[in-house]
Amino acid sequence: MLAVNGLGHRYGTGKNAHVALEEVSFTVDSGEIVCVVGPSGCGKSTLLRAVSGLLRPTKGASTLWDKEITAVPEELAVVFQDYSRSLLPWLRVAGNVEFPLRNQDLNRVDRKERAAEALAWVGLDGAGEKYPWQLSGGMQQRVAIARALAYRPTLMVMDEPFASVDAQTREDLEDLLRRVRTEHGMTVLLVTHDIDESVYLSDRVVVLSSAPTTVLTTIKVDLPVERNQIATRESERFVHLRGEVARLLRRSSD
Ligand SMILES: Nc1ncnc2c1ncn2[C@@H]1O[C@H](COP(=O)(O)OP(=O)(O)OP(=O)(O)O)[C@@H](O)[C@H]1O
Ligand SMILES: [Mg+2]
Repeated sequence: MLAVNGLGHRYGTGKNAHVALEEVSFTVDSGEIVCVVGPSGCGKSTLLRAVSGLLRPTKGASTLWDKEITAVPEELAVVFQDYSRSLLPWLRVAGNVEFPLRNQDLNRVDRKERAAEALAWVGLDGAGEKYPWQLSGGMQQRVAIARALAYRPTLMVMDEPFASVDAQTREDLEDLLRRVRTEHGMTVLLVTHDIDESVYLSDRVVVLSSAPTTVLTTIKVDLPVERNQIATRESERFVHLRGEVARLLRRSSD
């Protein structure tokens, strides 16, 4: 479904040039959850911005259903790392979640229902009438997640989406994402710096090197589809896989 082909990006020119991505290639199949992990500053956000059509890479390209991505595809939703800049401060929470739905073939009542459902999914039922700035950082991030879920994108691109929420909420959101993926046939590409999260959430983990950034390896997560925050994380296979990712990351940043 998604193919990232020899993607490279250099910020700036001449003496001030900074190569954020050397050459990155991988694919994401329809219905998969793929997590990207890599050392801090190795270009993960740059990669997601390029894949989402928000940044034109200086090398290579990405394709969605064999079509080159040059602008944000309609069937794609993004959750940014910097949530504080992603909500519209003059709209209430419900208004923010409904906002992207205006372009979909839904009437006002359906839009409201969709937004309310997504807010309930992230544990924010009742917060719809508040303004974003009346919520904590973690709650704002959940609003951004609800907005993306309400849109029901074919491809969801997420940059450290659970970084600012507490541990319990984070686990709930991980399980929610896996459930919604199955129920609505979504495909997810997600960046995290949390090794355990990358294994728990995904079908495959793409491990990036430190700069000059390339794909070190892709690890298939052959855990059962049904996962459980306690039993899965205790399982021998999980411990083995997380060790594999951790070793690769350790070696790449040495
Ligand atoms: N707009 C920009 N102009 C110049 N350099 C940039 C720009 N955005 C990012 N960079 C640089 O490119 C490199 C990769 O940045 P990026 O934000 O993609 O990394 P990251 O892996 O997402 O980092 P983190 O783990 O902190 O989220 C960094 O060295 C960063 O300083
Ligand atoms: Mg980043």
